[in-house]
Order: sequence, then structure tokens, then C-alpha cells
Amino acid sequence: MVKYKVTVYTGSNFSATTLNKVFIKLVGEDGESFRTKLVSLKGAASFYRGTSSKFSVCTDLDIGKVLLIELDKQPILLTPKDAWFVDKVCVKTPDKKVYTFPIYRWIDDTNVHRFREATALRVIDDTHHLGRYSREQELKKRAEDYNWHVYADGLPHCIKTSGLASLPCEVQFSFTKTSEFAFTAATGLLELNLKGLANQRTLWKDFEEIDKVFCNKSTDISEYVKKHWREDAFFGYQYLNGNNPILIRRCTSLPDNFPVTDEMVFVHGCKSFSDEMQKGNIYLCDYKTLDGVMTNVINEKRQYLVAPLVLLHKTPDDKLKPIAIQLKQTPSDDNPIFVPSDSEYDWLVAKAFVKSADFSEHQLNVHLLRTHLLAEVFSLSLLRNMPMVHPLYKLLIPHTRYTLQINFLARRLLISDTGVFTQFASSGGKGMFTILRRSLSSMTYTSLCIPDDIAERGVESLPNYYYRDDGLRLWDIIHRFVKGVLSYYYKNDQEVKDDVELQKWIQDIYEHGFLSQDGTGIPQSFSTVEEMVKFVTMVIFTCSAQHGAVNSGQYDYGGWMPNTPITLQQPPPIKKGTATEASFLQTLPNVDTTVQGMATMWLLSRQSSDFAGLGCYPDFHFSEEKPLNLIHTFQEELIQLSIKIKERNKSLEVPYTYMDPSEVENSVAI
Ligand code: FE2
Repeated sequence: MVKYKVTVYTGSNFSATTLNKVFIKLVGEDGESFRTKLVSLKGAASFYRGTSSKFSVCTDLDIGKVLLIELDKQPILLTPKDAWFVDKVCVKTPDKKVYTFPIYRWIDDTNVHRFREATALRVIDDTHHLGRYSREQELKKRAEDYNWHVYADGLPHCIKTSGLASLPCEVQFSFTKTSEFAFTAATGLLELNLKGLANQRTLWKDFEEIDKVFCNKSTDISEYVKKHWREDAFFGYQYLNGNNPILIRRCTSLPDNFPVTDEMVFVHGCKSFSDEMQKGNIYLCDYKTLDGVMTNVINEKRQYLVAPLVLLHKTPDDKLKPIAIQLKQTPSDDNPIFVPSDSEYDWLVAKAFVKSADFSEHQLNVHLLRTHLLAEVFSLSLLRNMPMVHPLYKLLIPHTRYTLQINFLARRLLISDTGVFTQFASSGGKGMFTILRRSLSSMTYTSLCIPDDIAERGVESLPNYYYRDDGLRLWDIIHRFVKGVLSYYYKNDQEVKDDVELQKWIQDIYEHGFLSQDGTGIPQSFSTVEEMVKFVTMVIFTCSAQHGAVNSGQYDYGGWMPNTPITLQQPPPIKKGTATEASFLQTLPNVDTTVQGMATMWLLSRQSSDFAGLGCYPDFHFSEEKPLNLIHTFQEELIQLSIKIKERNKSLEVPYTYMDPSEVENSVAI
């Protein structure tokens, strides 16, 4: 008789306990145990949340190296079936060798579940037939549970699900997250004390009236925005460190459709436009993807969205100021080029149209598509193609947390026919799909990898660009970590080429995420370790740092509505000298639309109490010393960067916190 000591760790999350009977079978290279009921002196308390319990499992003969365990649970007569969250199981052999089986998931049915020993194995390393069989069975089940769905033509594919309850329990929100996260604009309205205004379809009378509503909830930055939103330097600053820090690019020659002249922008003749361009002092923001997009109808009124061109000048005192704005793409007499020397309200209205266009560009392309929808593709491909024992699964699974559910909710509550965005944004409805389709079809791999993106946009030397500075440092730290982990498992390029599971992962991403578009630079297979490391770095960066940069400041920069109008209800001016404070207020969204936007941005900027910060891996999927050491170094480097960022922020008028590793979440979870 051979006795194995089995320790079962039940998770500490809410309702992780099971009162059901639990059975285990140990499967080794040389044999297996019987399916054995786990009984201990603790009785019914053996599988209480947060506890570990020890059991004995006996076999006639030594089963050799333990490859996997089979777990199942069955309800006791008259007690209900429950869901059990298991962290891990450890098996100690008579010769004191310990095998760990990471689980970190719910078991809510009566089926038998197989879990592999923690040592990461690529398919080629999985030489035992039982290991291979278990691997195939796991992927077969995953392919049944996780399917691709075409939500709309031309968009990345998403998870197929008939409703929230049909999402596999392992990818659903925790109880804490669910109970905190009542994802409706009504909740936000309540929190902001704005419920009474939700049906008020009237114009704002003056800025004081907006301020009274805004006062209910503000942040340090949103207060700053309220004070400075009219200033040109702050308008320029937001292209570097606001919600959309990826549009600005160095301008080396003016686009043909933007006929700005020296006389327009350098009125005193003190500077030449071409000189300034050559020196790298001129920058361009071009919203061409918004051109001709069908706009929304809100409160029976057609809304307005423009596709502006904005020219910015880096001044000798390192400010970035707008110097010319053309609101529509095609130059014409009724499409004036506005400049700072125009009347106060001509210039302010022009800037407001730009800010409103930027809201749509940011929310749809920069935030929804380039972080949420891509993160879903990365996650779904991982779940379909990678067994838990694969090193890439272990590396990436923490970066998929909550993404499938948050995106399901976004589709249902933000962009569905009755969604908040559909109802209240100028690009809500048909226009939204046009923008998303155009954005995906023009997306490049370069633009997703921050070091390449910064170089491609020519913004290496722009001063005060903290998104770039923090982002590049974070990319380096993530890259070092990913390289360390993956080079430990892949010793040469051939091993990368030969890993069929890895190749299927990237192939699915290329097909279902980037819709097999040629010419985007997105890899469709990996030929080298280096290519794989770069892509995986991009995945982690996108799901964590990039999402933080474009998500966390939504209320900071959008809470004070005049800085980020989600829609505009008067057409753009066709000549100068017509705008006044009154016409500006008539152009801004109505009270009801404003408060719906504020409430949504408030909810989406909020940090959950079960937030998992970047590099925080409470689930120990890896067991080998090398990856564990690399995780430790990764965490240390993130702490050091966070200290540096906090120190730097002390001297800034507006601190840049969105890429501080202590504020960045591991995954797209909000
Ligand atoms: Fe988000």
C-alpha cells in the first residue's frame, strides 16, 4: 500500500466554499489511484473558503511521477449543488516529493476535471500519452465553451454568448466586482447626484449652471480642467497626456487639404513656417477617419461631428499650442481655417468641435477598439488554443481577467441600440460602426508597439510627453520580463516555429482580430523567438498600460463637459465672426445628454476594490524557479518605476498618473 498526502486549497473569494463531496484520482506515469472521496477530520468544513485541508489517498503500487489529477464533486442528498473555487492541490509522495497542481478556477458542475502538474509544458515537451490526451481533451472542451462571434462586419470578432449567465464561470466577475459594479448610467447619475437632470432636454443657460452640476463630483484634475479648458497651452497639453495621447504626429509637410500659410499663423513675420517645420516644432492632428460619418439624432435633433485638422506649434518655452484649425477635410470658402487671433468665441467654438471629434476618436478607436476589443481577441484565442499547462497560458491568463465580461457589458449597455453611447454621442448609431471599421482597417502593428509608434509619429523629442516617457519605460520592463520567461521555454527559433498551439494562437488573432488584413504588419505566424516576445509584450502592454492611459482619465478630462462635449447640436461655423457665448452654449449638448455622459465617464474611470495591479500574480501558475524569479524582478522594477513617476509628478502642475504601475490594472477590466 502506497500512501499519498493530498492538500486541497480552497480559494478565499466570496462563496468559494463547497459542501459537496469531493473526489480525486491521482494519475501517474506508472499507474493511477482509484477515484477516492476526500475525507478529513474537518468533515463538512474541509472545503471552506480560505482553508487548506489534508487527506490521504492510497494506491496498491507506486504510480511514479504524478502527471495529473482528476477532480469532481457531487452534491450530498438534499443539499444544493454549489460552486467551488479551488486554488490548488498539492500531492506529496511517500518519498516526500511534492507535486503542485494550479487550478484557480470555479468548479460548478459534477463533471470530472483534469488538472496538470505545474511545470509548464509546450506540446512538444508533453511526451506522456496521458498528458497529451488530457491536453487534447482540455482544448476540445474549451473550443466548445469559447466560440468566435461576428458582432458586426469589419470589427474584431468577439465571444459568442447568449447572455451573461452563459459566460463560462471562470471568466465571470467576482462577487465583489459584480456587487460593486452596477454598470448602468442610472447608477452613475445617482452617485453624481444628477438623477433629477436625466430628463431635462434643455440647453445650458450659462457656465455657472454647468458648474453647479459639476460640483457634485470632481477630481483634482477635473477641477484643473474646469479652470484651464479655454487655454491654448492646455488644449495642446491634452494631446500629450490627456485621454488620446496617440494621435499627434510631427508635421514635416502640410497635407494638401490644409492650406495654412505663414501669414495666417506667424502674423508678425517673426518665424517661417517651413523653418519651424524643419526644426521639428510643428505637429499635426488629423481626424480624417471621422470624415463624412453619419451623425446621431438626439432628442429629434440631428447632431454634428466634424473631421478636423489641427496644427500645433511647440513654442520656445516648451508649450504646445494650436495655431490653426480647419474643421472639415476639404478646403473651401465655407470651411475657414481658424487661428488664435480670431475672436475669442470663433476660436473657442473651433476648439470645441475638435474636442468633440476627439471624444469620438478616443472612445471608439483608441479606447474601445485598440484596447477592449483587441484584448478580447487576445484572451479568446488564448482560451481556445492554449491548455493551462502551456507557458504562454500561464504568462497571459492574469492579463485576461474580467475582459470578456466587461466587453459583453459594453456591447449590451454602451453600444447596443439602447446603449448610452448610441443614445447620447454624436457618433452613436451607424456612425460608430463606420468609425470602428475604418479604424481597424487602417490599424498597423507599428502603432500598437509604443517604441515603434513614437518613432513613426516623430514625437521622440516633444517636451512634457509623459505618456511617451512612462509608456516607453513600461514597455521596456514588460519586454525584459516576457523575454526572460519565453526564452526560458523556447531555446531557439525552430522551437517557436514547431509549437503548433502557439502558431494557432497568433493565427486566430490575425484572422479574428485583424481580419486577415495584409499590409498591417500584424504577424500571422511567428518565425523567431524575438517576434514572439515582441508580440506578447504588445499584448500585455495593450491590456494593462495602454488601457490605463486611455481609460483612467475619462472623468478627469471629460467630467467638465465643455472640455469634452460628447456631441454638438449646431453645425460647425462656415465663416468667421459669427460665434458668441450664446451660440457656443447652444452648440453644447443639452443638460440630459451632458449628465448621461458625465455619469458614464464617472463609472468607467472608477477603480474596483478587487483591482489587480500590473505584475500582481496572486495565482501561482508557474512553479519553476526561473519564471518565479523573473516575476519577482518584474515586480521590483515596476515598484521602482512607480516611485520615479510619483517623484516626477510632485513637480508637475498636472500629475500624470495613468501609467504609474501602481495605478495600472493587469487586464482590461473596466
Ligand atoms: Fe476601459
